Amino acid sequence: MSVPSDPNRLIIFDTTLRDGEQSPGCSMNLQEKLEMAHALKALGVDVIEAGFPIASPGDFISVQAIAREVHGPVIAGLARCNPADIDRAGEALRDAERSRIHVFLATSAIHREFKLKMTPAEIVTRAVEGIKRAKQYTDDIEFSPEDAARTELDFLAEVCERAVEAGATTLNIPDTVGYAVPEHYARIIRHLKTHVRGVEKVVLSVHCHNDLGLAVANSLAALQEGARQVECTINGIGERAGNCALEEIVMALRTRQDYFGLTTGINTRLLFPTSRKLTHVTGMQVQRNKAIVGQNAFAHEAGIHQDGMLKERSTYEIMKPEDVGITKTELVLGKHSGRHALRSKVIELGYHLDDSQLQQVFDAFKGLADRKKHIYDADIEALVESQLHAG
Ligand code: KIV
Ligand code: ZN
Repeated sequence: MSVPSDPNRLIIFDTTLRDGEQSPGCSMNLQEKLEMAHALKALGVDVIEAGFPIASPGDFISVQAIAREVHGPVIAGLARCNPADIDRAGEALRDAERSRIHVFLATSAIHREFKLKMTPAEIVTRAVEGIKRAKQYTDDIEFSPEDAARTELDFLAEVCERAVEAGATTLNIPDTVGYAVPEHYARIIRHLKTHVRGVEKVVLSVHCHNDLGLAVANSLAALQEGARQVECTINGIGERAGNCALEEIVMALRTRQDYFGLTTGINTRLLFPTSRKLTHVTGMQVQRNKAIVGQNAFAHEAGIHQDGMLKERSTYEIMKPEDVGITKTELVLGKHSGRHALRSKVIELGYHLDDSQLQQVFDAFKGLADRKKHIYDADIEALVESQLHAG
């Protein structure tokens, strides 16, 4: 995939089926991966990282099946920087309409010293050899200097420059351990933009982990410095605290188009259904207050908010629920709710009460709400019925 002709069009690289699957409890079998890959295609992602073919025979078969069946998005497979991994990825992707090999090698001093036991010069040589080998299978090569956010800037720039010379077409800058903060991460991207010869010929990509809860913020900061690919996962699943959540970054860009001026190819109305599909496939629930797709994301309980919402939605909503595929805003009745919301619910349930009947039901409702965590429609119906029969 070459640098997009529209400089404001962002490439969405989805890694739900690779980094996301590395989330404890989220592993998927062949059928589940295929189902998710079709859903990601429908959602409009540009690249699907289908797996890590050398990791297991099952992952190889899944990547191969997705490469054969899912047309449209680029299908990527991950490989460490060694011949066996790269050949396995090349083989798994052979039948793809458009394929990418994603080669990674750690560059930070901590990883060089303790994990790889390699010198900086050996890292550069290994990276160049890996990229050249991957190039035998496809022209679309992504290179990731793992733990880039903790790598010395000059060395990072050197590895990136050599990767571009060797034929990488995307340079992905991972914050592998979620250590970066927005201004720091933005500075790394700025440095690479100005110190890597040939960088204008490749796509700069961001890959942020959420250990400090900053994955989306760090990604946005990097996009402002000119990165044009963002790596993310549905529901933010991924190693440890997860990856940048696709639904969050996409809706941040859409809602604040005025600020970022960037577009994506995502059909945002499929965000909620896709999130639900993943939950169903993995069994991993999203927290109620999760941005965009959590159960409370478009629910209002406070009386003042409900009153504002009933008058004009934009008072308390910055996005329309239908834009992310949620049917409607929920005005949750609870002890913080007001008369206005109760009246609206009573009418929705098909009742007409006069002011004094409504007041009686309201008083009874407040008493109930103090005792009960969840107030259901059936509770309101029971209160209304008992008021009507008492009258
Ligand atoms: O977080 C990371 O560094 C990765 C790489 C393999 C890109 O997932
Ligand atoms: Zn990662």
